[in-house]
Amino acid sequence: MATKVFIKDFKNHVDEEVMIQGWMFNKRGSGKIYFLEVRDGTGVAQGVVFKPGVPEEVFKKAEELTMESSLKITGQITKHPKLENTFELQVKDIEIIQLVKENYPIAKKGHGMHFLLENRHLWLRSRKQRAIQIVRNTIINAVYEYLNDNGFIKIDAPILTPNACEGTTELFEMDYFDEGKAYLSQSGQLYIEAAIFSVGRCFDFGPVFRAEKSKTRRHLTEFWMMDAEAAFVEHDENMHIQEGLIVHIVKKVLENNLPELAILERDIEPLKKVVPPFIKKTHTEVVKELREMGSDIGENDDLGGDDETILTQKYDKPIFVEKYPTEVKAFYMKRDPKDPRFALCADLLAPEGYGEIIGGSQREDDYATLLGRIKEHNLSLDAFKWYLDLRKYGSVPHSGFGIGLERIVGWICGRKHIREVIPFPRTINRIYP
Ligand code: 4AD
Ligand code: MG
Repeated sequence: MATKVFIKDFKNHVDEEVMIQGWMFNKRGSGKIYFLEVRDGTGVAQGVVFKPGVPEEVFKKAEELTMESSLKITGQITKHPKLENTFELQVKDIEIIQLVKENYPIAKKGHGMHFLLENRHLWLRSRKQRAIQIVRNTIINAVYEYLNDNGFIKIDAPILTPNACEGTTELFEMDYFDEGKAYLSQSGQLYIEAAIFSVGRCFDFGPVFRAEKSKTRRHLTEFWMMDAEAAFVEHDENMHIQEGLIVHIVKKVLENNLPELAILERDIEPLKKVVPPFIKKTHTEVVKELREMGSDIGENDDLGGDDETILTQKYDKPIFVEKYPTEVKAFYMKRDPKDPRFALCADLLAPEGYGEIIGGSQREDDYATLLGRIKEHNLSLDAFKWYLDLRKYGSVPHSGFGIGLERIVGWICGRKHIREVIPFPRTINRIYP
């Protein structure tokens, strides 16, 4: 019996007879010779089926094989005659697991985005889509690694919640037995704030839901967020932690995923420039700069999508935009003691036109102030009673931030729209497949 191997490990088995299992990716040839491109999840390899070299029935199988048919191939691994670091399989035997009888819906080129999204379950198999998921996996692991190394432990926040985290207009609502309304979480932040009083520093990482009707290249209705929170960390240190995290993520991708970035035709020069220190500007400075660039943004406005695009196209490093006017930010943010019109917050914007990837702030830690803020925002005192308790029993200065996984994968992979970087995107007009 030939040894079962993965295509990624071919280099360790040169000249050996091995067996691979996978799917037909492409086929060329006719008459005497067939080149079968086979993928097995770990890579793509070329199998060479040469007529006099194999029994008649094996050659017949090569002839009848169709795209995406599943199969097992046995053969000897050889070095490619011309290409460095490329290996081939000299096929000895083929076992067809399932022969695809219909034309595979996705051809190599020329489909519109709507068609591809309708066939997302199949589109995921294509070379670029696979590369994106591999990079996404590296990024997820890099996040865990950096946070664990910096004293953060993972605390899972609930998804079903009695209250909003980021404002009530963007919530998915449902009936919850006899308890009234429940909402799908927009961010686990408030819950991991509770947990820092137990473990000091922690993070969650899971799906969150936004019912906002935004139809932009940056918005999904379901996406993955990592919220981190730390006791005794104030505004500046909060940004320092975020900078370290982003630098670590980009470093890991450059270490592990150059082949995937090449498949995605991602220029890696801008990624190499993601080193400390990042650019820091206040909201006031950014508004002035944007107005000089032709934006009509007002002094107390949030940055619009176009503002983020034009600002970040100007720079080749991530930019912290600090101290937004309090009226455009959430109720829980602490005000700047030097000028209480502004919040002690920062959004981190990715360069090259990508825009916001992180939102974070120091949190209001004074009971009376937070109570007033909750009332001003017309939020339910019942629902926030537990959150206020945190300011009653051993309140401490603390800060945190949330990173949108798809935003960062989209930027690092150089994709235009973030719906391409989540396995099964949910947007306002898509819930299939
Ligand atoms: O800026 P946001 O709304 O901040 C929060 O939810 C805070 N509670 C986080 C915290 O401090 N722990 O969301 C955080 C990040 C954004 O910076 C963005 O990257 C991403 O989540 N994000 C979205 N990604 C995809 N689709 C959407 N609709 C998104 N909304 C926010
Ligand atoms: Mg934000």
